[in-house]
Amino acid sequence: MRERSAAEEWMDDAAATEAEFASALRDLARINRMSLAYRPTLRWLDALVAETGARHLSVLDIGFGGGDMLAAIARWAERRGVTVELAGLDRSPWAARYSAAAGVKARFITADLFDLPESERFDVVLCSLFTHHLRDAELVRFLRWLPGRARRGWLISDLHRHWLPWGFVWGAVRVLRMDPMVVHDSTVSIARGFTRADWERLVAEAGVAARIDWAFPFKWIVSSRG
Ligand SMILES: C[S@@+](CC[C@H](N)C(=O)[O-])C[C@H]1O[C@@H](n2cnc3c(N)ncnc32)[C@H](O)[C@@H]1O
Repeated sequence: MRERSAAEEWMDDAAATEAEFASALRDLARINRMSLAYRPTLRWLDALVAETGARHLSVLDIGFGGGDMLAAIARWAERRGVTVELAGLDRSPWAARYSAAAGVKARFITADLFDLPESERFDVVLCSLFTHHLRDAELVRFLRWLPGRARRGWLISDLHRHWLPWGFVWGAVRVLRMDPMVVHDSTVSIARGFTRADWERLVAEAGVAARIDWAFPFKWIVSSRG
């Protein structure tokens, strides 16, 4: 736990079947609801809209998985009277099929992050539980990539690498009899997660301006509003 783990997640195995991936996405959405995963992103969107007065936003969610963050943003937009044009990018073809079947209304792009065409720009680019899938060198590239893709701002929400959530999650996924991929990947994800010092180092190396905030329970929110 002193340094970011390089252990592999089963979710990143290209051989994962649609059934395995879909079952993991279902439990990931349960974890997102229980861990209040949407709240920091929606609060940040609230602040963005309040500051800029924007009534329309195009939003890209990177590594959208089961699409539940996109669905939460759609509900937020309806409550706030903001119109949104939602897009999600994920390299797994199962993510788009799962989200479409779940009724998520968005444009789904099945591609690796860095293969997104140059012409694609959005008001907001965000991601949740995505960056821990990247190695440090890729993260620095991602941090440099973001300002050119997000006109109004970008936000990263990801796990705090700490023994407390590691132990809690180890027990919770077993007690709740979660999907085997989630049981394996949940603690690996925390071990691949971040400390404040990691984000400070990565942001400095990328040479971008960003705020780093801690959010309950055990998340780091790295963001920039232009
Ligand atoms: C842990 S899941 C998070 C899903 C969702 N954001 C959530 O919070 O539940 C990470 C997602 O990122 C996707 N992913 C990982 N590396 C990627 C890459 N290089 N480019 C695009 N998607 C990637 C995976 O396919 C997976 O759906």
